[in-house]
Amino acid sequence: MLPLFILWVILLSGASAGHSRDCSRVNMAAQVQTRALVSVQWLADAVRNKLVGPKLRILDTSWYLPKAKRDTRDEFAQKHIPGASFLDIDECSDSTSPYDHMLPTPSNFSQYVGDLGIGNDTHVVVYDTSDFGAFSAPRVWWMFRAFGHGLVSVLDGGMKNWVAEGHPVTSEYSKPERQEFRATLNASWVKSFEDVMENIRTKEVQVVDARSPGRFKGTEPEPREDILPGHFPGAINIPFTSLRDSSGKLFGPEVLTKIFKDAGVDLQRPLWVTCGSGVTACHIALAAHQLGHPGACLYDGSWVEWFQRASPEHIISEGKGKKQ
Ligand SMILES: *[C@@H]1O[C@H](CO)[C@@H](O)[C@H](O)[C@H]1NC(C)=O
Ligand SMILES: *[C@@H]1O[C@H](CO)[C@@H](O)[C@H](O)[C@H]1NC(C)=O
Ligand SMILES: *[C@@H]1O[C@H](CO)[C@@H](O)[C@H](O)[C@H]1NC(C)=O
Repeated sequence: MLPLFILWVILLSGASAGHSRDCSRVNMAAQVQTRALVSVQWLADAVRNKLVGPKLRILDTSWYLPKAKRDTRDEFAQKHIPGASFLDIDECSDSTSPYDHMLPTPSNFSQYVGDLGIGNDTHVVVYDTSDFGAFSAPRVWWMFRAFGHGLVSVLDGGMKNWVAEGHPVTSEYSKPERQEFRATLNASWVKSFEDVMENIRTKEVQVVDARSPGRFKGTEPEPREDILPGHFPGAINIPFTSLRDSSGKLFGPEVLTKIFKDAGVDLQRPLWVTCGSGVTACHIALAAHQLGHPGACLYDGSWVEWFQRASPEHIISEGKGKKQ
C-alpha cells in the first residue's frame, strides 16, 4: 500500500510544485499538498477504478442563495457523483455567530468531516451543481486548507461538466465509515471586521471583492433584503463569474493573469478576499493559488457583516448607500 500512496502523492503534487511560500505548507510542516483542480476525466477514472474510499472522498458542497430556492440536500439525494457525500455549508459552520455560515471551530470541523469518512490523509475532491461550473466548492476547498488540510481539490467545471461529458450519476448512498480528522486552523487566514477596518486605514493589503459589478457599485440590489449594495473603501472588484470560461471551467494561467493584472492586483503581495457572505470570494483565492499566490485570506463576514456594522462613510455606493 505504501509505495502506491507515495506514487499517488507525487502524481498529485505535480501541479503545485514551486509553492514554497505557500502559507499552508509553512503552517503544516508535514502537510501534503495536492493540485487545486482535478479534471472531470481524472475523477471519472478514479470512480471507475474504485479509488473512492478512505484515501479519496468526493463531496457535493452545493449551496445557493436562499432566493434561488434550491433544496441542495434533496438534489443530492436524487443525483450525485457515485461515492460522493454531502457537505452542508450552513451546518458545517459556527452555530453561535449572528452571520451566515461563518467558519466552524477546528473541533467542530474535524467532527463534521470525520463523519463523512475524511481523515487527514484523505484526498478530498469538492464539487457543486451550479450552472456556473462552481459556486460554493471553492469555499470548501479554502476551508480545508485553512484547517491545515492541503489534500483537497476542486472538480474543474463541477457537476455541470461531469454530466456534459457523459459520466454517470446516482441516487445511491452509503455513509462512509467515520475517520479521525484533526484540523489545525491557521487563524491568520481569517480576517475580521476590525482587520478590514484597520486595513482601510493602513492600506497595507489589497482586498478583492468577488460580487457582481452592480452590487459592488451599488446599482444592483443585494440578494438579502436588509442589506444595500456597495463596497468598502479600497476594495477591488473581480466578479467570480469572470474567472471561468463558457463551459464553467476555470480559465488557464494566461487569462487569469490578465484578469488580475487588469484589475490592478499584484499577486506578489498579500491578498484578502471578500464577497456577500464569504462563499464566492474563495473563487478569487483559488484563481490566485493557481498563479502561485501563497494564500489569500478571507474576510468571512463579508458584505453582510460590513453593511450592518460599518458607519456610512465606510460604505461607498452609487446607489442609496447607508443613511447617516
Ligand atoms: C499561518 O499562515 C501565515 C500566512 O498567512 C504564515 O505566515 C504563518 O506561518 C502560518 N502560521 C502557522 C502557525 O503555521
Ligand atoms: C460545535 O458543535 C457543538 C455540538 O454540535 C455545538 O453545540 C456548538 O454550538 C458548536 N460550536 C460552534 C462554535 O459552532
Ligand atoms: C493528522 O493530524 C494530527 C494532528 O496534526 C497529526 O498528529 C497526525 O499525524 C495526522 N495524521 C496524518 C495521517 O496525517
